[in-house]
Amino acid sequence: MSKNENTITTEESTDADPKTTDEKLISTEVTTGTETGRTAAGGRTIIEARNVDVYYDDLRALDDVSLQIPEGQVTAMIGPSGCGKSTFLRCINRMNDLVDAARVEGDLLLKNKNVYDDDVDPVALRRRVGMVFQEPNPFPKSIYDNVAYGRRIQGLDGDMDEAVEQALRRAALWDEVKDQLDKSGLDLSGGQQQRLCIARAIAVDPEVVLMDEPASALDPIATSKIEDLIDELAEEYTVVIVTHNMQQAARISDKTAVFLTGGELIEFGDTEKIFENPEHQRVEDYITGKFG
Ligand SMILES: Nc1ncnc2c1ncn2[C@@H]1O[C@H](COP(=O)(O)OP(=O)(O)OP(=O)(O)O)[C@@H](O)[C@H]1O
Ligand SMILES: [Mg+2]
Repeated sequence: MSKNENTITTEESTDADPKTTDEKLISTEVTTGTETGRTAAGGRTIIEARNVDVYYDDLRALDDVSLQIPEGQVTAMIGPSGCGKSTFLRCINRMNDLVDAARVEGDLLLKNKNVYDDDVDPVALRRRVGMVFQEPNPFPKSIYDNVAYGRRIQGLDGDMDEAVEQALRRAALWDEVKDQLDKSGLDLSGGQQQRLCIARAIAVDPEVVLMDEPASALDPIATSKIEDLIDELAEEYTVVIVTHNMQQAARISDKTAVFLTGGELIEFGDTEKIFENPEHQRVEDYITGKFG
């Protein structure tokens, strides 16, 4: 809300235009990502989609999506179930390659290089663009081996103990597991498992971390830990997160992309603007829970 909209005269303006009294469509109570100062980093574009369509056989899951995701920030993807959020995320690190029916058209650039070019190795790409899924999915291995796994298959040299510790620290899990690194990752709580998966993803030093509803299977305390962690991660990485939770998107992201049914990107911009004063009525209706 801009300053001049805020001029209220002597009386309580109970009959004022709801747009001005209603201030935020969603009450966030906390600052949005844009207010944290991360934007000061410059926010160069790291990922750019140009006219991306995705089909599963004949079904069009994404419809002409173009957007530019800034580096070193948190970008949230929101929208109703089935609108293509996960599909978009999976385009970025070519996870859709693993789905036989999927076909991607258009350009998807990572640092100005099309990730679908013939000379791009998807395995190397996925080292640069890590992913965390909705259900925590640790391997049936020790905590240590879960975190070390990616570095081993990538043949990353260096002190493995140090790298494992660093990743677990950055994932805010080290203090809870440092004395039981040999324990199976599957024996951790759901929230710990998800932080283990985040540690596994960041252990290979990716540039981007994709998260597909990383907290939706967790209780409020574990969710809040993951949100704090995302805030920390954004100091080092670009984070792109899908969430169904509007308050979460408003709390943690700098930019928000709103997809609607049919795989269309309806609006993309600063999170504050999307939540306080969106351009499109359909976005406002979605955010305020009128559908979706
Ligand atoms: N592997 C697949 N094969 C066929 N169709 C798929 C596949 N994955 C997704 N789809 C279809 O593509 C569309 C977009 O799905 P997607 O999973 O990207 O949506 P979403 O926005 O992530 O939904 P949700 O919020 O429920 O996770 C849906 O119509 C879905 O049924
Ligand atoms: Mg999904």
